[in-house]
Amino acid sequence: MVEEISLQGPLTFARFMELALYHEGHGYYMTQAVAQDPAARERIGWQGDFFTAPELSPILAKTLVRQVLEIDVQLGHPSPFAFIEMGCGNGSFAADFLQYCQVVAPDFLARLRYVLVERSVHLQSVQASQIQEVIGSSRDGLLCWVSSVDELEEGSVVGVMFSNELVDAFPVHRVRCGQDDLQEVLVDYEDGQFMERLGPMSSSTVESYVSQHGVRLREGQSSELHVVAEQWMIHVARVLRQGIVITVDYGHTGSDYYNSERNNGTFLCYFRHAISTNPFERIGEQDMTAHVNFSALAKAGEACELQKLGFTNLANWLMGLGVEEMIGDEDPESKEIQALSQLLRPHGMGTTFKVLVQRKGLEPMPLQGLRYRAFFDDVL
Ligand SMILES: C[S@@+](CC[C@H](N)C(=O)[O-])C[C@H]1O[C@@H](n2cnc3c(N)ncnc32)[C@H](O)[C@@H]1O
Repeated sequence: MVEEISLQGPLTFARFMELALYHEGHGYYMTQAVAQDPAARERIGWQGDFFTAPELSPILAKTLVRQVLEIDVQLGHPSPFAFIEMGCGNGSFAADFLQYCQVVAPDFLARLRYVLVERSVHLQSVQASQIQEVIGSSRDGLLCWVSSVDELEEGSVVGVMFSNELVDAFPVHRVRCGQDDLQEVLVDYEDGQFMERLGPMSSSTVESYVSQHGVRLREGQSSELHVVAEQWMIHVARVLRQGIVITVDYGHTGSDYYNSERNNGTFLCYFRHAISTNPFERIGEQDMTAHVNFSALAKAGEACELQKLGFTNLANWLMGLGVEEMIGDEDPESKEIQALSQLLRPHGMGTTFKVLVQRKGLEPMPLQGLRYRAFFDDVL
């Protein structure tokens, strides 16, 4: 980073975040945590810096199986049925999804092609061992890994493209509103320290994001721009021939995102479950994340044939897919129920997490996961 700054001048915040998270040798997601630790540990989970829904409970994967089986009917039981998971962390979601398919849908499993799109080579190997531990050896052609969605052939996917907490891990540009106009936050290095510097918008892509999504902030307010997420959506649309895209993440509609009450944007860092807003400490050793602008994602999809089918929150999604009946007579004190109550928390994950569902090459259809909508259809 320092070398890049000395050669080219200040970096955009997105470039800084890209290097901090995904640098081949030192990026947060590309390595295990070893600094200040007697033993290496993974980044995600209770021993790590933050947990995610699949690390908490298998229920997200189990309900997704239900949802995918309904979509399989709409698609006329294609063979293969492609399930593309993007940004797979420790592989817990994949392991639970496949294990539940073994139990409830062996015929579907026989047609399934499960593709893990994972940028980190280190995490790819964690995923492979986690999956093998849970489901044992798998049939040829069931599993495959790629490091980026654009490695998949255009129009090659008939099935479902799914992600959980991927989009919040994409690098973001940051902007701050001065007296009259928006300025971009850049990262400079001076006297042995990283520091912020304000400058004009770094590219026409950033400028057009601001105008397309009507980003207006009040004086002194900061926020983020999701240019990388928009580009990802375009790749997803290109790869999908027919099927559904399901994006689960924490985030807001565009108008909530840039609301003047949200003065400092949504950017946060996580280290050992403690939150901070300082990106310049523990670089490569702490997670960095920004909430998702779901309106921008939906709009980017619509420009390339991905139509919005629905938008709800995680609690309603899980309830619609019958989570109550799935947990049956489980002891309320059990680990499973405790974990589930985290996912359903009305002032926590249940409402902060949203689910965006888009379709391509399919007529609008009712889906169980969208039975209980949290918002009017035009909220995005
Ligand atoms: C916050 S973690 C979420 C992991 C997992 N989905 C979960 O819920 O536990 C983000 C994951 O996305 C991966 N990732 C980030 N950018 C990616 C990209 N462009 N393509 C594929 N994977 C990516 C990271 O390496 C990491 O595995």
